[in-house]
Amino acid sequence: MTETAARRGTALVTGGSRGIGAAAAGALAADGWDVGISYRTRQDEAAKVVAACEKLGRRAYAVQADVAEADQIEQLFDAVTGELGAIGAVVNNAGIVSPSGRVAGYDVERLERVFRINTIGAFLVAGAAVRRMSTASGGAGGVIINVSSRGAVLGSAGEYVDYAASKAAVDTMTIGLANEVAKEGIRVLGIRPGLIETDIHEEGRLDRIGGTPPLGRPGKVEEVAELIAFLASERASYMTGSMVDVAGGR
Ligand SMILES: NC(=O)c1ccc[n+]([C@@H]2O[C@H](COP(=O)([O-])OP(=O)(O)OC[C@H]3O[C@@H](n4cnc5c(N)ncnc54)[C@H](OP(=O)(O)O)[C@@H]3O)[C@@H](O)[C@H]2O)c1
Repeated sequence: MTETAARRGTALVTGGSRGIGAAAAGALAADGWDVGISYRTRQDEAAKVVAACEKLGRRAYAVQADVAEADQIEQLFDAVTGELGAIGAVVNNAGIVSPSGRVAGYDVERLERVFRINTIGAFLVAGAAVRRMSTASGGAGGVIINVSSRGAVLGSAGEYVDYAASKAAVDTMTIGLANEVAKEGIRVLGIRPGLIETDIHEEGRLDRIGGTPPLGRPGKVEEVAELIAFLASERASYMTGSMVDVAGGR
């Protein structure tokens, strides 16, 4: 795609300051979307993503918003809509992992944190999107792309079973919500990345297991971002309620 791609509308990417979210913002901008991104703390990184999207000839805007906080999510959607216009695509991407450890060692604080951000946050973002996009409430429809993980299927034994379970809940939400809003102009899709080169991994993890997928290497953020841009576009117009793996065969 080139900077002359026709304008598609406004996309919102949560956790767009780094990693997969930052690459998704770039791929969406290249595909014609004006892009709003959220970040939690890294304003400097968010500003770089905005500049990269603008360089592609699109408008972009960054907002600080913690996806674990419902009021901040509402402010995020309102701020992006006010700056860039009605939102037609939402990439539900912000997420965390916990430190490596076995289930027997998890405490309530750890469990609440991972489920609060990865699962409750994803539900709140999806709900905010539906309230604005649903044709049943005057919206123009749109697409929600939930960023899950292959861990949801594999279970992440010995590392973070809580993280894997928090993403499995997102997979189930994807199917249920897709059925709920299919006749309201909204497609809901999920992607399950495998081992992707970002800062989310603990020191040394990618060196240790990055070669284990059948394709023999970890994935690059651009390889996930391309899938997100495809799913957001009308090229995926007959897809909803599906989970797509992007995991090198893992
Ligand atoms: N990398 C992988 O191998 C992999 C595999 C499967 C699934 N995933 C999923 O892909 C998504 C992105 O992961 P990544 O690897 O790109 O991670 P990353 O490089 O650590 O980036 C995480 C992003 O999420 C934001 N964020 C974190 N907690 C937040 C919160 N409470 N509220 C708002 N934003 C928050 C961060 O903002 P700041 O920059 O301000 O900190 C950052 O933009 C996650 O959902 C992750 O579970 C990743």
